[in-house]
Amino acid sequence: MAKILVNGGAGYIGSHTIIELIEQGYEVVSIDNYVNSEPENYDRIKKITGNEIRHYDIDLCDFEKVLKVFKHEEGFDGIIHFAALKSVPESVKKPLQYFENNNQSLINTAKAIVNSGKGNLIFSSSCSVYGNLRPDQLPVSESTPTQMVESPYGYTKLMGENMLRFNALNKSFKTIALRYFNPVGAHSSGLLGELPSQGINNLIPVVTQTAAGIREELTVFGNDYNTRDGSCIRDYIHVSDIANAHVLALEYLLENRQKEYFDVYNLGSGDGVTVLEVLQTFARVNGILPSYKIGPRRAGDVEMVYSDSGKAFKNLGWKTKYDLDEMMRSAWSWQKRLLS
Ligand code: NAD
Ligand code: WQD
Repeated sequence: MAKILVNGGAGYIGSHTIIELIEQGYEVVSIDNYVNSEPENYDRIKKITGNEIRHYDIDLCDFEKVLKVFKHEEGFDGIIHFAALKSVPESVKKPLQYFENNNQSLINTAKAIVNSGKGNLIFSSSCSVYGNLRPDQLPVSESTPTQMVESPYGYTKLMGENMLRFNALNKSFKTIALRYFNPVGAHSSGLLGELPSQGINNLIPVVTQTAAGIREELTVFGNDYNTRDGSCIRDYIHVSDIANAHVLALEYLLENRQKEYFDVYNLGSGDGVTVLEVLQTFARVNGILPSYKIGPRRAGDVEMVYSDSGKAFKNLGWKTKYDLDEMMRSAWSWQKRLLS
């Protein structure tokens, strides 16, 4: 049984991925310092899978501690690096903290892999590496060059990819960077989902919190974009579909099917959906229309971005299972559980 290290395994996408890994028969070890999560997520995973997760409560920026885990575990067959700070507005206020945490944790992990002499790496990247795209570049594929990003957070993803791309030149281990678009929704059991962090500002948690009455009203940031209803277009993708793609990418590396030492994949549904369409879908599926108003554009927002995920479909055999209805239904079930 292959042994997989999940860095940031108590987080939103990490915890969903651990479930998929366990269901596919992998042995999982997790590292987290709970800077944006809680260890109770391991209990939730246990409720769903029946498995206890061996975990180390350390900061991945502490190299000696990372090395100790790798030594104690005698290395890993695969490593999935989710650990990062991920708030775009916070990164604008604290850029150095973002550069330090996101890059140092990745460098330490890569060094520990080299030191242990085995393992492949999967890195959580983001569609933010594409920056602001022209409409004729959509749907965006991996062959589109990355460009200057909109935030320090996005820059940590671009730096992370580039560090790994250069590191791959010495062929020490193989890497896949997965560029997520907008992961949303929650596990189908209703027992696991995104935990609201302070100052949450992503659309779906804002929608569910407004529907739940935690927020009075939400603001749609702009209805004067050049889109079918004037609001921004994004590519929302179910977190369990994202989780499943990690297992497929891992298999691709473990079976040595990837020739390159570094490669990238988009993970999106391929469908561009407007903010107003998200609200309409949420209302149709869950029977509640969250109260909203139209406000000004949000600084730094791009008008439109959606994915060409053909490469992941073709090479990894990835197929999305969940549509926007299911994303909205599961997000709302999870919000209701948080209230109960
Ligand atoms: P999350 O905050 O829920 O999970 C990240 C986890 O990493 C948390 O549990 C956090 O405590 C841990 N962590 C952070 N720094 C650490 C450190 N130094 N040492 C140990 N643990 C540390 O975020 P998520 O939504 O699950 O995102 C996972 C990854 O995917 C991140 O790299 C994020 O940038 C990337 N990503 C997320 C989205 C999204 O919308 N959620 C989109 C694109 C990319
Ligand atoms: C989605 C749409 C908003 C809140 C961010 C990061 C990106 C990636 C995913 C990590 C936009 C609109 C939102 C609200 C609104 N994360 N909106 N009212 O900005 O596409 O992407 O998360 O890598 O890197 O930048 O996601 O959920 O914040 O916004 O109208 O109260 O919803 O304008 O069009 P975004 P989001």
